[in-house]
Amino acid sequence: MNAYFRTKSISQILEAPPEEGHHSLKRVLGAKDLIALGIGAIIGAGIFATTGTAAAGGGGHIGAGPAVVISYILVAIACGFCALCYAEFASVIPIAGSAYTYAYVTLGELAAWIIGWDLILEYAVGNVAVAISWAGYFASFLKGFKIHLSDSIMTPTAIALHQGKGFAINLPAMVIVLLMTVLLVRGVKESVTFNNVVVLIKLAVLVFFVGLGFLFVDPGNWTDFAPNGWKGIHGAAAVIFFAYIGFDAVSTAAEETENPSRNLPIGMIGSLVICTGLYIAISLVMTGMAHYSQLGTADPMATALEIVQGRPGLSASNVSLLHFSHFVVTVGALFSMTAVLLVFQMGQPRIFFSMARDGLLPKFFAQIHPIYQTPHVTTILTGLMVGGAAAFMDIAAVIDLCNIGTLFAFVIVCAAVLLLRYRDGRKSSSTERPYDISAAFTLVLSLALVIWGASSSHLGDRLTALVCAPISLWVGLAFRGLPHASSRPFTAPFAPLIPVMGIVTCVWLMMASPVVTWVRFFIWLVVGLFIYLLYGRHHSVLNRESAAEAGNPIGFTPDA
Ligand code: ALA
Repeated sequence: MNAYFRTKSISQILEAPPEEGHHSLKRVLGAKDLIALGIGAIIGAGIFATTGTAAAGGGGHIGAGPAVVISYILVAIACGFCALCYAEFASVIPIAGSAYTYAYVTLGELAAWIIGWDLILEYAVGNVAVAISWAGYFASFLKGFKIHLSDSIMTPTAIALHQGKGFAINLPAMVIVLLMTVLLVRGVKESVTFNNVVVLIKLAVLVFFVGLGFLFVDPGNWTDFAPNGWKGIHGAAAVIFFAYIGFDAVSTAAEETENPSRNLPIGMIGSLVICTGLYIAISLVMTGMAHYSQLGTADPMATALEIVQGRPGLSASNVSLLHFSHFVVTVGALFSMTAVLLVFQMGQPRIFFSMARDGLLPKFFAQIHPIYQTPHVTTILTGLMVGGAAAFMDIAAVIDLCNIGTLFAFVIVCAAVLLLRYRDGRKSSSTERPYDISAAFTLVLSLALVIWGASSSHLGDRLTALVCAPISLWVGLAFRGLPHASSRPFTAPFAPLIPVMGIVTCVWLMMASPVVTWVRFFIWLVVGLFIYLLYGRHHSVLNRESAAEAGNPIGFTPDA
């Protein structure tokens, strides 16, 4: 049984990678590169494609109306809690594996494998959704030039077969992924330079949209602000969560970052703050330009511009300005999604790479290209997987699956921070802080959760309270008398309250997922478990080390 819970010590992990040349990556990224990498990963299909459905409803979720802005704020807060936990881990363990590595240090090998497997849902499956959305915008871009590609190369196979149209393929979705793969094999610095340029373009386009759209806001559109109340806000939050995914991808570049303990937290939190501000502005402006019920399209920003264009009494110059903006938004969407594809295609191979280095996947995957110094084997493998799936899959199912998988990873990272702190605290002999005030707050939180769950008629709220109130109560009691861990390069403030809030908010978002998504998620985890039992358990590097070493408790050492 112990094999499943064997952990790596932080010093063991930090010592492992730097054998120069064959298994190490080039350290070339600074704080600005990382913020750009975060923005590159965050702003994409989520804001460009899902905001409208989140407001109007669709795809198994009811809409929030203009209150989608509240959903954006709530999800930003949830992600903020998680980003602080990610930042703490990333500063202590600046290794490419992200949540996978953090779980290996705290929860043990089985949990690490499950998380590594789960992260495929975030990175690879998420990118399938982005590639499909990219192809949709590409088609409207071409239409602007009166170019119409045949349906047989523009339709996902799943949809074509479902509609009885025979065989078809989403060729642009596949081609864009393969192009990104080539770029990433060539080198990270080149890819990051490309990303920095694209991020500037996407920021300019979104600021332009907000500025222009603001001039055409009709406050009457906000009158029916939350047509479906709290339930609508909750359902929309579960969808637009996709728009925030990506800040955590910054942590996968840890081994290519200069001074990672400082730069990784700046990259994650900085990019999240910038994107939150933009999202709030965009969702307000968009729902002010057109009635929310008209925005349930695949390209809601373009739809909002078209609707405004149709208003009576507009001057000719305004009409042509809006017409031009439509083109700008389409091009901006294409650039934005290209950057998301790039960062996620960069993140997934690095997680596979870490898992292979630990023996949970075949060693063959841990190779570094002798000239470009990139993990070319896993990059190509990811390109083939994502490009292939994007050619035939339907977007709706893919987004829900990506969201639930990512939220699960966030919950584990928050839990792992709690565990790390708990173990550190118990080892320390300090008695400076007999009772941490934020631990006391988790007791209050557990009481608040019970009252909230009992008084809410919404099943998602009740289930969240049922799962989280005991966790919060346990933390409040277990952290009693534990000293603060303060020797880390970056620490999440107000712990243990912040990690607990991260768990509560992510569980709340997961509870809004449709049942079919839960079933798919469960099947995915079970398949992963079998692969671990058949391969990883036996080939794990820790398995080859002595039982005494493998069973070491984690023990943070300030050498990090
Ligand atoms: N946040 C990324 C996007 O919206 C996944 O495309």
